[in-house]
Amino acid sequence: MEALRTLRLAGTALRTTPIGFGCARLFRLACPGDRRAVLESAYEYGIRHFDLAPMYGLGEAEPLFGAVMHHHRETITIATKFGIAVRVVGRAIAKGQRPLRSLLVRHPRLSRHMEVAGGGPGAGLAGRVLYASSGFGAEEAKRSLERSLRALRTDYIDIFLLHDPPEGLVAGADALVDFLEAQRDAGRIRSWGIAGTPGETSRGIADIGAAVVQVRSDIFDAPSSLPSGVARITYGALGRAIPLLQQYFASFPAERDRWSDRLAADLDDPRSLPTLLLADALRRNQTGPVLFSSTRTDRVRLAAGVVSDGAMSPERHQALRELALAVKEALPVPGVAS
Ligand SMILES: NC(=O)c1ccc[n+]([C@@H]2O[C@H](COP(=O)([O-])OP(=O)(O)OC[C@H]3O[C@@H](n4cnc5c(N)ncnc54)[C@H](OP(=O)(O)O)[C@@H]3O)[C@@H](O)[C@H]2O)c1
Repeated sequence: MEALRTLRLAGTALRTTPIGFGCARLFRLACPGDRRAVLESAYEYGIRHFDLAPMYGLGEAEPLFGAVMHHHRETITIATKFGIAVRVVGRAIAKGQRPLRSLLVRHPRLSRHMEVAGGGPGAGLAGRVLYASSGFGAEEAKRSLERSLRALRTDYIDIFLLHDPPEGLVAGADALVDFLEAQRDAGRIRSWGIAGTPGETSRGIADIGAAVVQVRSDIFDAPSSLPSGVARITYGALGRAIPLLQQYFASFPAERDRWSDRLAADLDDPRSLPTLLLADALRRNQTGPVLFSSTRTDRVRLAAGVVSDGAMSPERHQALRELALAVKEALPVPGVAS
């Protein structure tokens, strides 16, 4: 299939599709064949941007991606990160991922712990057991870049991101910035930036001059204070919003009809909410790709279709903002002050 339309990442020479596939959750699928099928479906439906990190899939995501996608290399953009590594225990678990995944399917509480741990070494006990900070110095960046290039079977990374750097990083960043700029000049990375929470990211970007920032953004909480002229990649449009909106409509059934009318969408149809949320995320961010993830090929297809559907109208965008406010008033939104 042909690629979706493309956009240029603001302030860079990179062009890619407005929607990107995130590989963090692919390893929720127990079967390697299913993981491949989902990745291949993203390419098949025209998606050309992919987000990875050495920690994803407990270290298995980058090699899988390299094996499945290296023959598409010239037609895709790849973002990967450095700064969080998988500990030995995590790598050992990764080797037995199939039994682990089957166990998680049978034990939802354990699965929730693993989900939280996916936030990295700062995410509770399980996060500390599985992951460690590998540091943000030039040497650490160099080692991580070499490993990612080998795993991804490529000789360049399009977007190389500091993975959730801590506050205060910027003070010692000169050697790192020199290294990243030298790698960019040598063509081993095409751009670099920071992935992290909006407050810290905003400061880091302003201080060290990165070209790309990758931040969480959904209808409940969209970062507003990022410097202009920097390409923005956003993620998280669906993961929190879909269950909350579903909970809201289950608690207030009359609201479903009212908001179906306001949004001119049939909210009984399970495809409506993800379609609206992604269209809204694309409207909010026109400087770089909107990431999403799914373990289902039909949902990958749905997400790709949102790009072809065209821009969301201002009226729908406004209605969705009002729906988000109504939900915030009625329900606690995790991670957002009420
Ligand atoms: N610090 C960072 O840079 C950072 C942090 C977080 C994430 N990321 C990147 O961003 C990517 C996306 O993040 P995310 O996974 O939090 O975002 P997301 O796309 O907002 O949420 C994913 C969730 O939405 C569900 N979903 C997808 N399509 C759906 C549909 N049509 N209907 C109902 N549910 C649907 C998925 O479930 P199913 O699998 O069941 O479809 C999954 O539970 C990650 O994979 C990662 O690459 C980066």
